[in-house]
Amino acid sequence: MGAIGPSLLYLFSLATLLAVVTGTEPKKVEPSQYASFNRSLFPDDFLFGIGSSAYQVEGASDIDGRGPSIWDTFTKQNPNKIWDHSSGNVGADFYHRYKEDLKVVKEIGLDSYRFSISWSRIFPKGKGAVNPLGVKFYNNLINEILANGLVPFVTLFHWDLPQALEDEYKGFLNKNIAKDFAVYADFCFKTFGDRVKHWVTLNEPYSYTINGYNGGTFAPGRCSKYVANCTTGDSSTEPYIVAHNLILSHAAAVRVYKRKYQAHQKGKIGVTLVTHFFEPYSNSVADKKAAGRALDFFFGWFAHPITYGHYPQSMISLLGKRLPKFTKFESVIIKNSYDFLGVNYYSTYYAQSKGPQNKNMDYYSDMQATVSPLKNGVSIGPSTDLTWLYVYPKGIHDLVTHIKNVYNNPPVYITENGIATYRNDSVPINVARKDGVRIKYHHDHLYYLLEGIKHGANVKGYYAWSFSDSYEWDAGYTVRFGIIYVDFVNKLKRYPKYSAFWLQKFLLKGKH
Ligand SMILES: *[C@@H]1O[C@H](CO)[C@@H](O)[C@H](O)[C@H]1NC(C)=O
Ligand SMILES: *[C@@H]1O[C@H](CO)[C@@H](O)[C@H](O)[C@H]1NC(C)=O
Ligand SMILES: *[C@@H]1O[C@H](CO)[C@@H](O)[C@H](O)[C@H]1NC(C)=O
Repeated sequence: MGAIGPSLLYLFSLATLLAVVTGTEPKKVEPSQYASFNRSLFPDDFLFGIGSSAYQVEGASDIDGRGPSIWDTFTKQNPNKIWDHSSGNVGADFYHRYKEDLKVVKEIGLDSYRFSISWSRIFPKGKGAVNPLGVKFYNNLINEILANGLVPFVTLFHWDLPQALEDEYKGFLNKNIAKDFAVYADFCFKTFGDRVKHWVTLNEPYSYTINGYNGGTFAPGRCSKYVANCTTGDSSTEPYIVAHNLILSHAAAVRVYKRKYQAHQKGKIGVTLVTHFFEPYSNSVADKKAAGRALDFFFGWFAHPITYGHYPQSMISLLGKRLPKFTKFESVIIKNSYDFLGVNYYSTYYAQSKGPQNKNMDYYSDMQATVSPLKNGVSIGPSTDLTWLYVYPKGIHDLVTHIKNVYNNPPVYITENGIATYRNDSVPINVARKDGVRIKYHHDHLYYLLEGIKHGANVKGYYAWSFSDSYEWDAGYTVRFGIIYVDFVNKLKRYPKYSAFWLQKFLLKGKH
């Protein structure tokens, strides 16, 4: 155990390890408390990590020269779109507490810490003048991660686009974004790449696109009136344009890295994609095809172009002129534009075939499949406190197997996997910390991930989501994703949940 001495984590770990196992008062930790399912079953160089993102945890939204992002604007202008009308202005105050948080990451025995850089902390206006205090913060953060013996795993864009670029040319609706993103990425490679060897260009371009431009629930909050009464937007066209420009931006950043930095910095670069896995609703051929289409629309939409240089055939046929085309040159640039795939997996849904819709079209009608976690009213797995998240651990095996079979078995990092529970401040902290449901979730997903590795999937790492409770986008502070409890009503004090101790045990670090 590290240098913290009698930290909270240390004291509680003795207590809870035994309480979990025996339900009695602890005396000391014995090796018998370790389980036979532990990290030793995974490859030696496998990275176990935990993640966060800038807007969700940093807070400090308007100090030290940070410029506003579209999430600052969105939460200010549309408080009604956020369940508790909150914003990420404070988050978990990671900006000021990263040192204490990283000590805990280390104590748990994790190998790596995943975080994202706030673009508008580096370039307050998206481009042009650099903010030295922003650069200083990330230099300090990276140095602190390394000082704790952890591997920094860094995302360049986790949805917090500088507002200045939204104002100037509508952000990702405009092709110009690729150039500005590449300049920002170039600066990060040049400045931090001596120490950062794992780069992720974009986090979940799917969520940015679908929530921001189809459903209007995320910044910049655009959609058709017939989808969700947004003031502006077009759900039948904009998602495809935005996704296209995200793919071009990703590829532009990768090109810069490969041409200018990779040979001497010797790092790897990839992108993080999210998807459900899909099971056919019935054994019919139509439903089996619908499941394939749904996976194309969720995952292939991005994975296909960056592997093969073009969109999946199902999207090309169904979308016609609404799907932008890559030029010959772009097609060459985007093809094979990653060293690894980051994959965020949470749930599996059923897909049922559905006929075409010629009016009020949007992304969901376009895929001609109804996707749902329910079949005849019965869910695919246990429900959770998040309406969209049903537990189906085998799906992680099926997804990495799909990637192996369809995308040439690239190195894969599971960059997110986790579960949220409702925040209820009437529940005493010592009760809320008993998150057996989260322990089971991680255990079962790791079990099926290992099955995937045994069946040949080239998986290199697993990052639990997330380190601390934080700002969960449109859900605000109403749900808790962390393995560390944050007391939002009392100075953001941190308390490790039982899952943190379970993880410590799984990583064989609980013994003293
Ligand atoms: C870890 O798991 C392996 C394989 O199941 C087992 O042999 C070993 O005893 C476990 N280690 C501990 C400390 O429990
Ligand atoms: C749609 O939005 C407009 C303008 O914000 C508002 O006046 C109207 O009540 C909304 N309609 C519905 C059905 O929510
Ligand atoms: C919150 O917790 C309290 C205390 O356990 C309980 O009585 C109440 O029903 C909970 N509220 C909700 C919405 O679950």
